[in-house]
Order: sequence, then C-alpha cells, then structure tokens
Amino acid sequence: MSSIPKIFVAGHRGMVGSAIVRRLLAGGQPAEAILTRTHAELDLCNQAAVQAFFAEHRPEQVYLAAAKVGGIHANNTFPADFIYYNLMMQANVVAAAFRNGVKKLLILGSSCIYPRLAPQPMAESALLTGPLEPTNEPYAIAKIAGIKLCESYNRQYGQSHGIDYRSVMPTNLYGPGDNYHPENSHVIPALIRRFHEAKASGAPQVTIWGTGTPKREFLYVDDMAEASVHVMNLPKAVYDQHTSPMQSHINVGCGQDVSIAELAQTIGQTVGYTGTIDFDASKPDGAPRKLMDSSRLNALGWQARVGLQQGLTQAYQDFLKNHA
Ligand SMILES: NC(=O)c1ccc[n+]([C@@H]2O[C@H](COP(=O)([O-])OP(=O)(O)OC[C@H]3O[C@@H](n4cnc5c(N)ncnc54)[C@H](OP(=O)(O)O)[C@@H]3O)[C@@H](O)[C@H]2O)c1
Repeated sequence: MSSIPKIFVAGHRGMVGSAIVRRLLAGGQPAEAILTRTHAELDLCNQAAVQAFFAEHRPEQVYLAAAKVGGIHANNTFPADFIYYNLMMQANVVAAAFRNGVKKLLILGSSCIYPRLAPQPMAESALLTGPLEPTNEPYAIAKIAGIKLCESYNRQYGQSHGIDYRSVMPTNLYGPGDNYHPENSHVIPALIRRFHEAKASGAPQVTIWGTGTPKREFLYVDDMAEASVHVMNLPKAVYDQHTSPMQSHINVGCGQDVSIAELAQTIGQTVGYTGTIDFDASKPDGAPRKLMDSSRLNALGWQARVGLQQGLTQAYQDFLKNHA
C-alpha cells in the first residue's frame, strides 16, 4: 500500500461530494488517487455493480456523499424512494467496502435523525429518544440505519479486520453546487433565487412564508467538507475517546443559529435587493428552533470558519455564474 490512499468519493457531483473533492485536492491528494463515478456510470443501488466496482478498483477510503435528497414536498410524495434508495446505497457501499478491504469509511447523515422535539441544541445522545418528524421519517430512518451500519460493522469486525467506519451529521448546508430549483430547494438557495429575481424585475417587496422568527443553523459546504476530512483522519484512539461503540456519530454545525428574518435581510443585502421584506404569518413556521450541539466535534479539534455573510456572498457568486 502506498502512503497516498486511493479514495472513493461517492456522489462527487453533488453539493457536498464536490466540496469534499475540492478539499482533498487542496490538501494535496493527487487527482489520480480520487476515484469518482457518476450515478449513470455506477448506480449505488445496484449491489452487484457496487461489489464489482470495489473489487476492481480497491479504494482504501470511502466518503459516502451520495444520497437521494429533497425537500418536504419530495419527501412526502416519494417516501418509498427516500427510504429504499438511501438504505440500498448505504448497505451496498458499506458491505462492498468491507468485503474489499476498505479500512476507513465516512457516511454523511443529516440532522433530521433527531426526534422532532429533541432538546435544543441537539446533542448526539438525543438519537432514538423520541418520535421523528413525520414528513421525513423514512429518510431519517435510512440515515439512522447508516449510522448503525457503521457501528455494527465496527463492533463485529473492528478488531478482527481493523476497520473503522464513521458517520457525520451535518446541519443545513449551503454553498456552491446547491440546488436552486424554484419549487424544490432549501431555504437559502430558494431565497437567493427569489431576491435575485425580485431585484431583476424591480419588484417592490418580497414576501416570506411564516413569521420570520424561527431560528435555524446554516453551515457553508466547504466547512462541511473540511469537517468530513478532519473526522475521517482523526486517529482511532482520539475518535474512540469521544464516542462510544453504539453512539459514534458526530454532529457538524457552526454552533450559531439565525432567525429566518435575519437570514432574509442578509440575503437581500448580499443580492443587492432594495425593496421591502414582508412576512406572511398565516403560513406555517415549523419548529421554533433547530440547532445542533457540535461540542463533540469542537472537542475533536474542528470549528467552522466561514461566517454567514462571507458564505452567502460566495454562494451568490456561484448562483450568478451557473444560474442567472
Ligand atoms: N444539502 C444539505 O443541506 C444537507 C444537509 C444535511 C445533510 N446532507 C447530506 O449530505 C449528503 C450529500 O447531500 P448533497 O446536498 O450534496 O446532495 P446532492 O447535491 O443531491 O448530491 C447527491 C449526489 O448523490 C448522487 N446519487 C444519488 N443517487 C445515486 C445513486 N443511486 N447512485 C449513484 N449516485 C447517486 C447524485 O448523483 P446524480 O446527480 O447523478 O443523481 C448526486 O451526485 C447527503 O447524504 C445528505 O443527506 C445534506
């Protein structure tokens, strides 16, 4: 084995996967030692194809950033797809990785693994302590299964085969490569598009759903990629010291939340929109607050670096380059 590991980044064209590739390259990983496959080239739901890929290419590390992701509408309309595809991708990749000698693997989960009414900020220990948010329960169950796959393989084969499979749970992410679809995007890309279009058309006001008071946490995707590489590369003794065999996942957030009203104002300024911002309080607000407790990751030596204003500026530049 050479000292440069061969790394498979699954989902390398997605927002997070592409940021992980950028981060690995910036850290000195040679491009030829990063394996990638598009969905069309390798369907991760196809067990035989995934096994054949691992057997042929023998990666030494795996970042699993491929997933079927979507907003509330998509999750509600296609619950079978969200649970089935995500379970399959994870199960196929973890099993093929193990069978083909991969020692280090990192799965990306999501903050929706936590109960709907989890105490804020949400600590790793809140997992499996209460009912999930019903709208994305199938997706969340698949993501929880991903954590438990890693843990179960470690528990059964960690000692005998020297494997070390880990998982990280990001808060809401945004940045280059985001999905700006008008009906099917998360709050930051949706607001960037709306303010951009309102500015272009000279609209005097933009109306935001809800009261604007709920608070949410947002992390710039390049910070997420940096955190992923950091967690992957932590020495086993250090990782083990901060986790336990059946509670091994690590939250990744910036530790600060912002109200939707503040967020809208900041995005309006970033885009250069000069009209007024209204709130339609007749529309639902969702949970009053959703913040991750990232103290475990902080204790492991990582902190977010990109502030909201800077991240939004970079996200808007990316939007202008690719979507305007
Ligand atoms: N975005 C967020 O705010 C956020 C927040 C928390 C957690 N996460 C997690 O981060 C991970 C990545 O999310 P993302 O935002 O980067 O998603 P994304 O931009 O939609 O990227 C997902 C990637 O997965 C690939 N993919 C989907 N199904 C596949 C299949 N059957 N076989 C092979 N590839 C497949 C897609 O390829 P194609 O495009 O070719 O289909 C795409 O490259 C997910 O696990 C997600 O849960 C994201």
